[in-house]
Amino acid sequence: MQRLEGKRSIVTGAANGIGRAIALRLASEGARVLIADLDEDAAGKVAAQARGEALVQKTDVTAASDVEALVGRAVSEWGGLDVMVNNAGVGVAGTALTTTEEEYGFVMDVCVRGTFLGMKYAIPALRDSGGGSVINMSSVAALVGIPDRAVYSAAKGAILAMTRASAIDHVGEGVRVNCIAPGTVDTPWVARITSGYDDPEEARANMQARQPHGRFVTPEEIAAMAAYLAADESASVVGACMIVDGGVTAR
Ligand SMILES: NC(=O)c1ccc[n+]([C@@H]2O[C@H](COP(=O)([O-])OP(=O)(O)OC[C@H]3O[C@@H](n4cnc5c(N)ncnc54)[C@H](O)[C@@H]3O)[C@@H](O)[C@H]2O)c1
Repeated sequence: MQRLEGKRSIVTGAANGIGRAIALRLASEGARVLIADLDEDAAGKVAAQARGEALVQKTDVTAASDVEALVGRAVSEWGGLDVMVNNAGVGVAGTALTTTEEEYGFVMDVCVRGTFLGMKYAIPALRDSGGGSVINMSSVAALVGIPDRAVYSAAKGAILAMTRASAIDHVGEGVRVNCIAPGTVDTPWVARITSGYDDPEEARANMQARQPHGRFVTPEEIAAMAAYLAADESASVVGACMIVDGGVTAR
């Protein structure tokens, strides 16, 4: 009997990086996984690599109709939902002075509205299934000051606060809401952030050096935490922020 046998799960932003690793890990532990992403082709490749049942749904997490349809698909295919991973997110490098209003809207929309909509539509389905687990993706940027991440930090701080508030709102219904705060994880996101600097290689080296354990966190290390939060053995973990950061916040 595998740890996640019988669990019906959705992972947003699962075509790449951390979301991809989470989808593959949940599937490898026996869960059924609905892979949701803007990039349908890449999502299809993840589904093909997954051990176990994996479906794909093209989804923009900022569109309520898409998120409603996503949850509806899981319920119609599987008769319910047990795990919702609100992972999709975007970041931009910048201070409050250098970030444009368009960048502000973009980051807040995908990260905060996307997580809000994910909870808004998934929690009733989790509740109707007898309870379940919501896993939101925050960041160490919510917990410590990181240079050049003003709006991204605000978005991830909002996710942390919304996680705690929602955990209290829904704990009585058997729905656990938690978040993960990764340090810097080596994904396509890192390359996009560093490409905004004059010297991308130097920016990459700096991101690595700020990790006290001297390396990037791997997507698989975040996926291991997500699998724990998805499993029943984390039943008393409610409203928590699970830090997987190589020591960044311990300094
Ligand atoms: N990489 C890091 O260092 C790091 C650190 C802390 C937190 N995070 C968070 O982890 C999550 C995943 O990051 P990643 O590094 O894997 O990023 P990534 O860019 O590698 O992957 C993100 C995925 O989300 C998808 N996506 C983007 N906008 C979307 C939308 N509107 N609707 C649906 N899908 C959308 C993309 O297509 C992509 O497949 C994000 O929330 C990010 O903020 C990342």
